[in-house]
Amino acid sequence: LANTFQGDGYPLIASLALSGLAFSATFSMIRWLGPTFMKAGLKGVDMSKHHKKELPECMGGIAAMCYLLAVIIFIPFPFYKDIVAATSGGGNRDVVMHVEHVQEGRFLHRFPHGKLASYLSAVMALQSISLLGISDDLFDIRWRHKFFIPAFASIPLLVVYFVDFGVTSVVIPLPLQPYLGELFNLGALYYVYMASVAIFSPNSINILAGINGIEVTQSIVIALLLAFNDCLYLLTPYPHPATDSHLFSLYFLLPFLGVSFALLWHNWYPARVFVGDTYCYFAGMVFVVVSILGHFSKTLILLLIPQIFNFVYSVPQLFGLVPCPRHRLPRFNARTGLLEPSVTVWTPERQPKPVIAWGLKMLDKLRLLRVTLDEEGKFVETSNFTILNLWLVWRGPLREDRLAMEITGMQVVVGLFGLFVRHRLALIIFRE
Ligand code: UD1
Ligand code: MG
Repeated sequence: LANTFQGDGYPLIASLALSGLAFSATFSMIRWLGPTFMKAGLKGVDMSKHHKKELPECMGGIAAMCYLLAVIIFIPFPFYKDIVAATSGGGNRDVVMHVEHVQEGRFLHRFPHGKLASYLSAVMALQSISLLGISDDLFDIRWRHKFFIPAFASIPLLVVYFVDFGVTSVVIPLPLQPYLGELFNLGALYYVYMASVAIFSPNSINILAGINGIEVTQSIVIALLLAFNDCLYLLTPYPHPATDSHLFSLYFLLPFLGVSFALLWHNWYPARVFVGDTYCYFAGMVFVVVSILGHFSKTLILLLIPQIFNFVYSVPQLFGLVPCPRHRLPRFNARTGLLEPSVTVWTPERQPKPVIAWGLKMLDKLRLLRVTLDEEGKFVETSNFTILNLWLVWRGPLREDRLAMEITGMQVVVGLFGLFVRHRLALIIFRE
């Protein structure tokens, strides 16, 4: 393995070891600190159980803190060789680190400040998003206020991207090249695009939520697929030009997997803790960090297809065309112990506008919604617009863990298909 990584697999081994430590630290701290969090008021009711017990909330905060410690402790490892090379050979250290010059007939090493800047900007973005998540769990910030905050967290990343790479053009698919040319420069729009990915990814994970374990399993699947994608680049017979970005990505994904598995242990059905918005935002931002700094944000988008679907499907409720209750998670039927689609209730006085009513009936015909009408054709209830409820409309009532497994399985299948598209079909439409 070490040979594969250009004779330098040691940082990767250090990263694996730190990820193991991060797993154990998260695992035990969640057990120890649960009661402390409850005492501080960080708790929530598990709505899909017979006994509506209160559980500690915001446990993703612990995962995020252990993760941040791990990636900060890791900083010297990937730069170890550069630090040694840049500081050895005597002479004035400052001169040695900043100016490449010849001494006794050999070149002194130039320290890769750019790489360090990327790394630090990633840490900074993740710290900001954790702060946002924790404040949201503490104060329940309103949806429309917190929506754009991830964009601020992504500023350090965008600045480093601007200084280090500044690539803002996209490759045009072969059939369109006669009209648009080989490359199309998006200019400033490219930064708008990256900021949008930064806003979308954390929020989309937060709204595919509400049953035990689902926030964590979807994030683990995305992280595993991104790591698998990285390995495809690292295990080529000869070094790929993108080796560094994919190593960088692994350094951030491995500890993430460590803390996430520890969290899943406690959050899987029947949950003993909730992950809170902190974890959802933080997980989404980890993906943004690795994919922007590793130049594979389009691959990330392919892995977020279920989340994109869930978001697009949610639009009628998110934008108020259909009333959106505070919680849209599936409804627990205490008699059967199974989950059923939760609904928005319509009264004879409050009926959808004619266009909306037509749309809702169309969706019902397409089996994309469950609509209940009374004898006069008035709306009684419509299922809520989330992929979890839609799945229950298709599959009938399911137990909570079963629903979580099926949605996770779907995420795996769609994600693998996304990677297949990325690596096979892309060769056909984009000549590489
Ligand atoms: C988002 C969703 C909301 C969904 C909620 C569930 C949108 C716009 N918002 O809101 O519809 O109901 O997530 O997380 O789609 N809970 C459980 N079981 C679980 C997980 C959560 O009962 O497995 C409940 C607990 O009471 C917990 C609460 O959900 O305290 C957490 O909700 P929160 O994360 O604050 O909701 P939002 O992210 O605002
Ligand atoms: Mg949430």
